[in-house]
Amino acid sequence: MAQVVLEDVNKSYPNGYHAITDLSLQISDGEFLVLVGPSGCGKSTALRMVAGLETISGGTLRIGDRVVNDVHPTDRDIAMVFQNYALYPHMTVRQNIAFALKLKKVDRAEIDTRVEEAARILELTEYLDRKPGQLSGGQRQRVAMGRAIVRRPAAFLMDEPLSNLDAKLRVQMRSEIARIQRELGVTTIYVTHDQVEAMTMGDRVAVMRRGVLQQVDAPQHLYDHPDNLFVAAFIGSPSMNLMHADLVDAGDGLALRVAGRDIRIPDAVVAQRPALRAHAGRTIVMGIRPEDLHNPAERPDHPADQRLPGTVDLVEELGSDMMIHMRVDARPVLTDDIRDTSDEPLGPAEARTSSDITVRFGPRSGVRVGDAIDLCVDVDRLHLFDADGTAIRG
Ligand SMILES: Nc1ncnc2c1ncn2[C@@H]1O[C@H](COP(=O)(O)OP(=O)(O)OP(=O)(O)O)[C@@H](O)[C@H]1O
Ligand SMILES: [Mg+2]
Repeated sequence: MAQVVLEDVNKSYPNGYHAITDLSLQISDGEFLVLVGPSGCGKSTALRMVAGLETISGGTLRIGDRVVNDVHPTDRDIAMVFQNYALYPHMTVRQNIAFALKLKKVDRAEIDTRVEEAARILELTEYLDRKPGQLSGGQRQRVAMGRAIVRRPAAFLMDEPLSNLDAKLRVQMRSEIARIQRELGVTTIYVTHDQVEAMTMGDRVAVMRRGVLQQVDAPQHLYDHPDNLFVAAFIGSPSMNLMHADLVDAGDGLALRVAGRDIRIPDAVVAQRPALRAHAGRTIVMGIRPEDLHNPAERPDHPADQRLPGTVDLVEELGSDMMIHMRVDARPVLTDDIRDTSDEPLGPAEARTSSDITVRFGPRSGVRVGDAIDLCVDVDRLHLFDADGTAIRG
C-alpha cells in the first residue's frame, strides 16, 4: 500500500487541448479520495495519468516513494476498475477473478487463497462457479472488483464504476465499495460526476472544474465551507440558493439589501468574516442552503429583520417533507461558475430580475402555489461571495 502524490501535473493532448492544469493532490496511504466534477472537467484524464494510460505532459507523479511518470502501467502496482467492466463470459466467476494472477504465473494454491479471500469480502463465495451471464448487474460489478482486489495493488483507481447500474443498485453498491475499501485499507482514487456519490463515499472529495482543482476537503467541510461559487453550486442537492444582494452599512451594522428588505447580519457573524466590512457598499452574492430557510409559521419569534420574502411557484410533496420552489425579487446569479455546474442551459442572465430558490418545509405545512412567504433566514449559515465568486471569509 502507498500514498499517491501528484505535483503540478499537467496534460496537453496531442491536438493542443490542455485538459489538466497544475494538479497537485496528496492521497494518503489507505485514503479514499473522490475526484468529482462536471462532464469534461478532466477527471478521467487525471486518473488515466495515474494509471499510466495517458502520458504526463508536466509535473511529477509518485506512487509510494517512487516517481512513476515514465513507468509502464503494468509496473505501477495499481488496479483499475472501469465503468465497462468486461468480464469473460465463457469463464466462471472464479476464473474471471483469478485471470490476472494466472497470467502472472502465481502459484496455484496462492491463487485459490486470494480468490476465496476476495470472494468472502465481496460476498461472492456462493457464486464462484457461475458464469457472468447468470449474475445480476451488482454481482457482476463485484466480480470486476474481485479482479482488482486479488492483485493486492498499492492503489485502486476507479472510473465511474457504478454508472451502468440502476439507481437503487448504485446506492447499495456505493456503500459496498466504501465498506470493502475500508476493510482492505487500499489507497483509492474514485472518479464520479455524481456529487451525492462523492459526498457519501469519500474520506475527502476533490472538486475539479475545467481541468483545475477547486477545493479538496472532507465532505461535510466542503458542504459547509465552499471556497468559491462553483463548489457552492456544485455540491449539495437541491443546490444552494444563490442571489445578488447589496451589502450596506445600515448604521447599526451590516445588512444585505435584497428583495426590498434589509437582512441584518449580526455582529458575531461579521466577526467571523472580518473581510466582509471591506465589501460594504458593493453588490455581493448571497448563498443559503435550502435547509437554512425556515417556515415562518414554525418560527414566530424569528427577528423581523432576518427574513426573505418570496412567492411560491411550485410545491412538491415528497412524503417526508415538502420541497417548495419560490421566486425571490433578487437578481439571479448566472455567471459561468453556475453554468458550469449545470447540464441544462440556464438562459440569458440580463433578462432576469428574480431568482428561483428551493426550500424544504415539513410534510403538512399547507403551503400553496401563489402564497407569499417571509422565509426565516438562518443568518449564521449564510454563504457570501465576492464579485469574483470567492468566498468572503478573512
Ligand atoms: N484524446 C484526447 N484528445 C483531445 N482531447 C481529449 C482527449 N481525451 C479527452 N479529451 C478532452 O479532455 C477533456 C477532459 O476529458 P475527460 O475524459 O478527462 O473528462 P471527464 O471529467 O472524465 O468527463 P466525463 O464525466 O464526461 O467522463 C474533455 O474536454 C475532452 O474532450
Ligand atoms: Mg470520465
